Amino acid sequence: MASADTYLRQPWHPVHGIPMVCAFAHNWERVDAFQSRPEDIVVATFPKSGTTWVCEIVDMILKGGDAEQCKQDTIANRVPMLEFAAPGQMPAGTEQLAAMLSPRIIKTHIPAHLLPKSFWENHCKVVYVARNAKDVAVSYYHFDLMNKLHPHPGTWAEYLEEFMAGRVAYGSWYDHVKGYWERRKEHPILYLFYEDMKEDPRREIGKVAQFLQRELPPAVLDAITRNTSFEAMRDNPTTNYTMVPSTVMDHSLSPFMRKGIAGDWKNHFTVAQSERFDEDYACKMAGTDLCFRSEL
Ligand code: A3P
Repeated sequence: MASADTYLRQPWHPVHGIPMVCAFAHNWERVDAFQSRPEDIVVATFPKSGTTWVCEIVDMILKGGDAEQCKQDTIANRVPMLEFAAPGQMPAGTEQLAAMLSPRIIKTHIPAHLLPKSFWENHCKVVYVARNAKDVAVSYYHFDLMNKLHPHPGTWAEYLEEFMAGRVAYGSWYDHVKGYWERRKEHPILYLFYEDMKEDPRREIGKVAQFLQRELPPAVLDAITRNTSFEAMRDNPTTNYTMVPSTVMDHSLSPFMRKGIAGDWKNHFTVAQSERFDEDYACKMAGTDLCFRSEL
């Protein structure tokens, strides 16, 4: 049996040309060959874009706003991560999913061009959430500090270079957000923005419910909005990842539920870093009509 030490703080491992978490890269065939079901709901994101938030919202919508029912298990069990693997320690995401009843909610960070074909063939609904690049970089840096399945990020200045070059797990943020943005033209994808959710969570939760064809009475919409606030999810052990062993996620280094705001990048980027980032961003995002707000 593999010990966790074999994949803690290990370098990225390439999968189909993108850097992948070492533990997840093992036997990637299980992901490529994954069989979806037409009623599956996929929550797809670049890491640190509000994945956990949207997973909790989708699960709560399917459960009719029953927060107590949601609290009966961790978000990682209610919404398994497709590509997750910790060989010898825990069942892989694909194994968890195979044992689940429909409708399944499936979390993934896999970019559109590498998402298992079966999801496209079955026209599975995809809820995609995107967040502005600067806040993602800051959040991802803090996540790499605390999540030992990832290599240590080094200094912030070093990390920012890696992020811009796409040398972080799941590769280029720029390609990821553009990939799903293009796919939405031919596939049922609800494309959400973290900043819109911060601005008016009730409105955005309503969009998700409508996309999933679940009518929600106003009181249920209110309850879901309340129960998925940053503060509620930070204080909820089933959504704040404190149930993960500290050998894997060390919240004393940086909590998973860190700040939950738009615009925290201003507390981390120097003026020079911001200017360099913006210049590079303009090149990488040239030619797309995809627009982000980096503050509210
Ligand atoms: P910060 O590190 O900026 O605080 P993911 O779930 O994709 O890993 O994203 C994690 C980020 O989303 C973290 O951002 C976390 O605090 C934020 N987040 C999680 N739940 C949230 C919520 N209910 N409201 C706002 N932000 C939330």
